[in-house]
Amino acid sequence: MYLLTIFIWVLLVNYMNCDETKYQHAEIRARLSKAKSIRDALVVLKSSGKKGRMALLSPELLKKEQQDIQNTAQQLSRDAHSTIEPRNGGCEPRVICEEVPVDRASNNNMVSFPQCLEVHRCGGCCQEPQFPCVPVRQEPVTFSPLLLISLDDTDRYEVNRPLTIMNHTQCECKCSKTEDQCHREGKTLDSTLCQCIQPRCTPECLISSTCSIVPGSNIPRCACRRRIQGQISNYCSAANQRPNSMCTRCETISG
Ligand SMILES: *[C@@H]1O[C@H](CO)[C@@H](O)[C@H](O)[C@H]1NC(C)=O
Repeated sequence: MYLLTIFIWVLLVNYMNCDETKYQHAEIRARLSKAKSIRDALVVLKSSGKKGRMALLSPELLKKEQQDIQNTAQQLSRDAHSTIEPRNGGCEPRVICEEVPVDRASNNNMVSFPQCLEVHRCGGCCQEPQFPCVPVRQEPVTFSPLLLISLDDTDRYEVNRPLTIMNHTQCECKCSKTEDQCHREGKTLDSTLCQCIQPRCTPECLISSTCSIVPGSNIPRCACRRRIQGQISNYCSAANQRPNSMCTRCETISG
């Protein structure tokens, strides 16, 4: 009995550590995705290391480590003609070309000048696929004059109406899942991991029920597969009750 208790305890501690590791990894990924240079990355690595944020980050040490990286890199790229230090692309506004719409149905021999307009759109990589790179600030930009030129008679052209296009000026890696989406699955949103996770009930549910977000409430409840006798649904309507281990009735939570 004693050994069994220790065994369960070890399992539990491992389980909790594993959970904690997941969050540390998610945080390091998120911080690295924002780092622009090798130097920025080193700062993230040093402050997320085992020694924690309290690790002494002297500029000299940082410089030395950068130099070591440079030296190793030089040895590895001896055969290359030249190298440039990479910059992390990250999630930011990038130039794209947006085609000016021309009403081709009326006349196929019309071209617009300019044909394409340069605007910025959010793009790049985020820490993980469930975090798309999206605009958090954008502004309309109006282009004018635009010419509509006839290819049949280049002496003739029209000055077109101005065209307004949205320009993305600030981007962020944002979690694509919402609390509502997770609630529909009976789960809650973990915004650090951007995942719908099984909620925790206190005290924990007994064997035949699962902790779940029930419709119309944000507080997780122990829910059975089927409606519980004497209840209107598959969970206990009273807050101080939970289904018994057979899911046949509700019992009052003691303590
Ligand atoms: C669009 O936004 C970017 C910054 O995100 C800016 O550099 C650029 O000048 C803007 N473009 C126009 C046409 O205003």
